[in-house]
Amino acid sequence: MFPEKRMRRLRKNEKIRGLVKETCLTKNDLVSPMFVDESIDQRIEIGSMPSQFRLPLSEVRDEALEIVSLGIPAVILFGIPEKKDEKGSEAYNPDGIVQRAVREIKDEVGDDLIVITDICLCEYTSHGHCGIIENERVLNDPTLDLLAKIAVSHAEAGADIVAPSDMMDGRVASIRMALDESRFEDTIIMSYAAKYASAFYWPFRDAAESAPEFGDRKGYQMDTANSDEAIQEVYLDIEEGADIVMVKPALSYLDVIYRIKSEFRVPTAAYNVSGEYSMIKAAAKLWDIDEDKIIHEILTSIKRAGADLIITYSAKDAARLLSI
Ligand code: PBG
Repeated sequence: MFPEKRMRRLRKNEKIRGLVKETCLTKNDLVSPMFVDESIDQRIEIGSMPSQFRLPLSEVRDEALEIVSLGIPAVILFGIPEKKDEKGSEAYNPDGIVQRAVREIKDEVGDDLIVITDICLCEYTSHGHCGIIENERVLNDPTLDLLAKIAVSHAEAGADIVAPSDMMDGRVASIRMALDESRFEDTIIMSYAAKYASAFYWPFRDAAESAPEFGDRKGYQMDTANSDEAIQEVYLDIEEGADIVMVKPALSYLDVIYRIKSEFRVPTAAYNVSGEYSMIKAAAKLWDIDEDKIIHEILTSIKRAGADLIITYSAKDAARLLSI
């Protein structure tokens, strides 16, 4: 008798499919990005990212309240400073835009919202690179001190999690040491461990005014062709003290997410980046696609690959769709 095994039995109806569902996306998996711009007093929509905004400081409290009310557990903050310089000194100014935004959010919602801050220099440097520059080269070790200073200033402002996205070698250890010395031993480090030199970041650079003035980021971000290298990066970051490791971007790197989760079994984040978001928005403008279903399918695939948490510009839309 053939077929003996009928796979369709378990697909018969919604309830049966629900019983055997392997991956369930929930609001608890989501992190919503937030851009705070020091130079504006009204929100500005980001041209290449429909429905995403740069917010003035005066709007971050309301945004935080909205995110909490949608049941999203965390935000990740990016700052756009008024002044940029060679060393990105606004990044570690205790009264810088991110530090002030963290204080406003924490004052408004306290522990109802986990505040993650991105640790990087590219939004703060005049040249747009993620470190100190000498003869058009990004210097690794002198950059580490600055990254540690940024992390401590964010922790002082009240950040729960700091997320270094610069890809310098040794930054997790240097941030961990600096945090511990300043008595922030409970501040969590989520490292952008396997961050690729991806073409999918273009809308973000537009949003955060962080495009490099010369060259590219291939001297510090990973080659898009490699995945053994991602294993090494993650191994090193865990050794140096990372609590959560991240793969970025997500969709073209589902295999990397899968490998890392299988290999290390540590909390793993995925960043569903700006270009991935903008492509769906562009398709929605051109054709009558079911955007909600596409978002749900994409986020579920990232979770199925092994991500425990997903940073996504679709977080608010997804939270509206999800019941839990
Ligand atoms: C900063 C940083 C970038 C992103 C997050 N942190 C840009 C970059 O590396 O150029 C990209 C996020 C996105 O595209 O959504 N280094």
